[in-house]
Amino acid sequence: MGWQANKELVETLSSKQPGVNYREERVPNYVLPDILSLANGKIVRSAADWPARRQEILELFREHVYGRSPAAPAGMRFETVEIDPKAMNGAATLKRINIHFSEQADAPVLRLVMFVPNQRTAPAPAFLLICNRGVENIDYTRKIKSDFWPAERIVERGYVAAAFFNGDIDPDKHDGFVNGIHGLLERPEARTPSSWGTLAAWAWGAARVMDYWVTDPDVDDTRCVVTGHSRGGKTALWAGAEDTRFAMAVSNESGCGGAALSRRCYGETLSIINKAMPHWFCSRFHDYNGREEALPLDQHLLVALMAPRAVYISSADQDLWADPRGEFLAAQAATPAYALFGRKGLGSAGAMPDLNTPLLGDGVAYHVREGSHTYSLYDWDCHMDMADRELKLKPS
Ligand code: GCU
Repeated sequence: MGWQANKELVETLSSKQPGVNYREERVPNYVLPDILSLANGKIVRSAADWPARRQEILELFREHVYGRSPAAPAGMRFETVEIDPKAMNGAATLKRINIHFSEQADAPVLRLVMFVPNQRTAPAPAFLLICNRGVENIDYTRKIKSDFWPAERIVERGYVAAAFFNGDIDPDKHDGFVNGIHGLLERPEARTPSSWGTLAAWAWGAARVMDYWVTDPDVDDTRCVVTGHSRGGKTALWAGAEDTRFAMAVSNESGCGGAALSRRCYGETLSIINKAMPHWFCSRFHDYNGREEALPLDQHLLVALMAPRAVYISSADQDLWADPRGEFLAAQAATPAYALFGRKGLGSAGAMPDLNTPLLGDGVAYHVREGSHTYSLYDWDCHMDMADRELKLKPS
């Protein structure tokens, strides 16, 4: 039968938050926009025709959801701040790289932290965490360790453990787009309803890390994973969609505006998110508050933008705010895009997997684990299991 939301939890949340729907039976009927139908009515039938449809979908997300991002600035430069070959008791080489976007004194600087496994004979595959929690979670001194970024484990499993703090690119507050990378690259008065929001800015930061990685011989740039939790997970999916150099994207409990289908209006909705976080998306997205059925897309198309590359969507059973079922359904609904490439995705039929039972499909993976809203070691291990299958065995 598969995972079902805990009934007591549904009751408790429903009474605590009467304006929020947590009941499956109250999910409205909806029809998802078709993945394979081009705007001109033609149907995509082969992998060769996918790029045209993919471009259309990408443009829809730029125009209506995340906004349009600029190219990397001409003056971008990479500064090596520290290299310590004896980090983690000799298991890794710590590399701290600052990515500068301008010579202006107060310009944002992306401070990339990397632990490269020392035990390897070739460039290593990498996991990049877009860290949306305190910088202590990505402590390069390793005095503070947290499961949110289990760097030792990532290295042990043969991956570069890499991370940057999202606030380095853009502060997570509504400041009229004056601060951060928006302020540096664009005049606030030049903004349009489809100008990039803060999530797009963070995703843009991940792409700049990729720009650096193609220059770093320690990293196998054909096997890089972008990952994030919650708002970081929404960002990771958009980063993977915008930058196809990422071989895999991981969304941990990203929910509304991430992996969850907007049309289900279950847990957090567009009205709620756009009111609470007016800076996350482009302002056109706000036009769909309470009008989800009018959206020319839904989030299954975001997952489909990863095809035929790998994608992992994970949920937590207590995190109904992020709508685990809506996240699973989006991952499953992306199947036709994978099928174009002879990949099975999650398969188009079938119930949700049981609790703590990862479904590692062909290109697409999903799990719902027990517990609350966080990035746990269990999640990381599952994500790396999928990456092992999808990336490590692939000839590079
Ligand atoms: C809030 C927000 C979510 C988001 C989460 C987080 O709960 O409503 O959309 O995912 O914060 O980033 O932790």
